[in-house]
Amino acid sequence: MNSSAVCRLSSTFHKLNKADYVNYKLANSTFIQINTKADFMASNENCNGFTDDSKCPDETRRDFLKQSSLLTAFAITPPSLLKAAVSEWDEKASAFFETVKLSIKINGNEHNLNIEPRVTLLDLLREQLALTGTKKGCDSGQCGACTVHVNGKRVLSCLSLAVMQEGKEITTIEGIADGEDLHPMQQAFIKHDGFQCGYCTPGQIMSAIACIKEGHASKDDDIREYMSGNICRCGAYSNIVKAVSSVSKEGKNA
Ligand code: FES
Ligand code: FES
Repeated sequence: MNSSAVCRLSSTFHKLNKADYVNYKLANSTFIQINTKADFMASNENCNGFTDDSKCPDETRRDFLKQSSLLTAFAITPPSLLKAAVSEWDEKASAFFETVKLSIKINGNEHNLNIEPRVTLLDLLREQLALTGTKKGCDSGQCGACTVHVNGKRVLSCLSLAVMQEGKEITTIEGIADGEDLHPMQQAFIKHDGFQCGYCTPGQIMSAIACIKEGHASKDDDIREYMSGNICRCGAYSNIVKAVSSVSKEGKNA
């Protein structure tokens, strides 16, 4: 890097804050090179071309020290920290520029939202709308803990992008009771002791309601088969089957 380039870089970085620096670094892709004092002085018009300390005004020497300290600080910043700063700014920039509008009905309530397109229905419910009854188990479509109803059909909300639900009607575990009266499936899970820790239970109940509506709950084997996407690590399966079967037989599934 020649002296004038170093000087241009020095004066550029002198005016930058760290965030600007990160962007500058991204745009220019090459890592900065710390200029030498002689380079700086030779290229600074206040030094009149001298590289000798005594011939350079105090202010210019101070400028050099300030700028070279700044450059050194940037240069010794661990790459992982720079990467973190870049990601943080990327996140903020994308959050600001890349939101889309979403109109959605959840448990009978209309919501008009601005969301990032990458947000899953599960995260929208839990993180933005505080509907934490829907659980996040595996977050990859393996456990069924995140099951909700979309237009009456069971869906794994961890695998569904929220933006794809425009204009649709979502029902979560918070939306199935009738005021103080629990849904018959909730009552059956309590009556038949269909849970232990309860973490999988909201997903089991939402799946069970849909299972009966789909016509897959007339036999215990069918219930086991069509509820097999809902994993219970406590192993409460036999009582879950009893609960689903009882609601199915009583014809109380609303
Ligand atoms: Fe969605 Fe496990 S959290 S399937
Ligand atoms: Fe604990 Fe199912 S009740 S995971």
